[in-house]
Amino acid sequence: MPLKVGLLGATGMVGQRFVQFLDGHPQFELDTLFASKNSAGKQYGKIGKWTIEAPLPDAVASMRVEETTAKTVSKSGVSLVFSALPSAVAGDLETEIAELGIPVFSNAAPHRMDAAVPLLIPEVNAPHLALAKLQKEEGRAPIVTNANCSTTGLVMGLKPLAERFQIRDVVVSTYQAVTGAGNAGLALLAQPNNVIPHIAAEERKMETESRKIMGKVSRGKIRPADFSVLASCARVWVRDGHLESVVVTVDMEPSIDEVLDAFRKFRSEIAGRSLHTAPDEPVHLFTEEARPQPALDALLGSAEGLPGMSVGVGQVRVADDGRIRFFVLSHNTIRGSAGGSVLNAELALAEGLLGS
Ligand SMILES: NC(=O)c1ccc[n+]([C@@H]2O[C@H](COP(=O)([O-])OP(=O)(O)OC[C@H]3O[C@@H](n4cnc5c(N)ncnc54)[C@H](OP(=O)(O)O)[C@@H]3O)[C@@H](O)[C@H]2O)c1
Repeated sequence: MPLKVGLLGATGMVGQRFVQFLDGHPQFELDTLFASKNSAGKQYGKIGKWTIEAPLPDAVASMRVEETTAKTVSKSGVSLVFSALPSAVAGDLETEIAELGIPVFSNAAPHRMDAAVPLLIPEVNAPHLALAKLQKEEGRAPIVTNANCSTTGLVMGLKPLAERFQIRDVVVSTYQAVTGAGNAGLALLAQPNNVIPHIAAEERKMETESRKIMGKVSRGKIRPADFSVLASCARVWVRDGHLESVVVTVDMEPSIDEVLDAFRKFRSEIAGRSLHTAPDEPVHLFTEEARPQPALDALLGSAEGLPGMSVGVGQVRVADDGRIRFFVLSHNTIRGSAGGSVLNAELALAEGLLGS
């Protein structure tokens, strides 16, 4: 029997992707939609906020949206919630919901850096789920977060290198899509030919979250990775898909063949575990020039029926001083949020953390 799940922030840009990824899911059944009081009481399909390219399932279109309070969530009887709440309200609401015994899989920032909360990307740091096990052992329903959308692409690009080399220093510059700013970000499409070299709090998130994700877990604590990260973030006139230029210093001067080999031979920590939303090839290496590109590659993974769950790495080079350079592209509202969060819940379920 699939677990009945609730979706917080259901009308948002990430909420729509959750609807897409939960449609027909074998283990999770989308049972109740929650949004702000402006949407409460309305039929989802009549609210008029569905803007993604995937079709809106009829069964979801006819569902009535509930107002989001800990009480309405508890009353709905769902077994877990996926949260795409704005940061401003997510912190307290998610805590209250977890305290009522309902596990929370969140896309929002407030709990990401909590010492007791895993910041999980299964292909990168599956062992960090140990923190959720501890939360459960201590009698609480777990809160599990996924990273900021630009952090996700960065660490998925770094992971194959970390398997082969000791990373010392990372410099990343982003070219981020407008949907990273949610439904409101779509307004930026009306201002073409522009780049905005500022995204509030984004650089700090990339710098801290990536070190937590790539850190080691031991006895219930995460020791952040000891490399430095310097991020510069910009919003570009692209609808979906964050492209990032990454420069990495490692403990040696590798050859280009060693670096390409690290990407080619990368095997994720959950390879072979048959999780429904896990792509066969989480990191796709492009060897042709001028790839990846958002317009061509944001939906990488479509061939497996998982559009946007794979990240693309390309333009891999090694500079004369031995630094590694590459571009990485990830779909911000799929891999960087809803799809990643559904995958986190699948791993938690497989590890016996969900259900009775
Ligand atoms: N967009 C991305 O690429 C991305 C990536 C990773 C993480 N995230 C994070 O995911 C979360 C959602 O982002 P988004 O891009 O989907 O934002 P969004 O498009 O602005 O959607 C926000 C959602 O939250 C609901 N909401 C607003 N105020 C609320 C309140 N006071 N109480 C309950 N619900 C409320 C909205 O409902 P109404 O329609 O009724 O207002 C809507 O469903 C944010 O925390 C964001 O930082 C986003």
